[in-house]
Amino acid sequence: MSTKLRILSLLKQQKGSNISGQALADTLGLSRTSIWKGIKTLQEEGYIIEAVTNKGYRLSEKSDVISIEGIRSFLHTDLKNFPIHTFKTIDSTNNKARSFAMKSSQNQGVVLAEEQTKGRGRLGKSFYSPSQTGIYMSFFLKPNLSMADATLVTTATAVAVCLAIEKLTTKRPSIKWVNDIYLNDTKICGILTEAVSDFESGKIETLIVGVGLNVKEPLTGFPTEISTIAGSLTTDTEKEISDRNLLIAEIMNQFYMIYQTIEERTFLEEYKKRCFVIGRKITFKERKQEFEAIPIDIDPQGGLVVQLADGQQRTLSYGEIIMKKPFD
Ligand code: BTN
Repeated sequence: MSTKLRILSLLKQQKGSNISGQALADTLGLSRTSIWKGIKTLQEEGYIIEAVTNKGYRLSEKSDVISIEGIRSFLHTDLKNFPIHTFKTIDSTNNKARSFAMKSSQNQGVVLAEEQTKGRGRLGKSFYSPSQTGIYMSFFLKPNLSMADATLVTTATAVAVCLAIEKLTTKRPSIKWVNDIYLNDTKICGILTEAVSDFESGKIETLIVGVGLNVKEPLTGFPTEISTIAGSLTTDTEKEISDRNLLIAEIMNQFYMIYQTIEERTFLEEYKKRCFVIGRKITFKERKQEFEAIPIDIDPQGGLVVQLADGQQRTLSYGEIIMKKPFD
């Protein structure tokens, strides 16, 4: 383990309390200068470490930096060697994941960023991705799935995110078909899946699954255009998630557990349980015409089975449905 990580590990063990430079140096068998240099590097990486004369160093309770080591420490053993790439600022983790999938020899991995400058949402929208408060992660995979079954991966991801949140917090998020995760009538997470397919075989070559989760309230709030829709998993006063690495690792753990047996579709029951649009009035557009309908089921491909006013049934497989607020 590098000097920097050994220092960090000691500071983490006593997060919120002071440790003197001498105590760090003695415990790690290093000089005071090496400790100082290590602290400086950690601060540059974004860790909030306060240095107080005569008291030493203190890792602030607020310090929450996404790191490969941090994520790995919470991963299930079968994912211990899973390729993880982290960035401070990039345009979009989906873009980066695509280039890793195309250019590297890795056939799977995950890309994370503290901040995205051109975060992308579905249907050509942008995704607000400020630093320090969110999780922006994209898996790249080379699944042996047909184009039709690839849509299941999005559905599976929504379930994985919900299960991870439920495991680590007291929150019980729900899903707005097809892949938005809601809490208290606000959208806290969106998923963007993109595929590169082989035209001849009709098989998926590469799948990019991007997850954007607002963990904490953005430091300057949400932009006005999305302020009535967007929300975050926790508020400032709650301390439910103090380490985003733990939540990232749990999303990965849950995702891979489902992904291994995705074709069995057992997770669809979990999806259906959380899909709050079932039984409620919605509207959707098809070829510029608007329809009113009541969703009644999720089909084996993750499609939304709806009943129209005239009693006809239709299955929606993509697009967007609209539901009036408040949702309940
Ligand atoms: C949506 O709500 O329309 C989908 C939002 C998906 C956002 C995530 S953030 C990580 C990944 N990188 C992107 O550019 N988009 C996805």
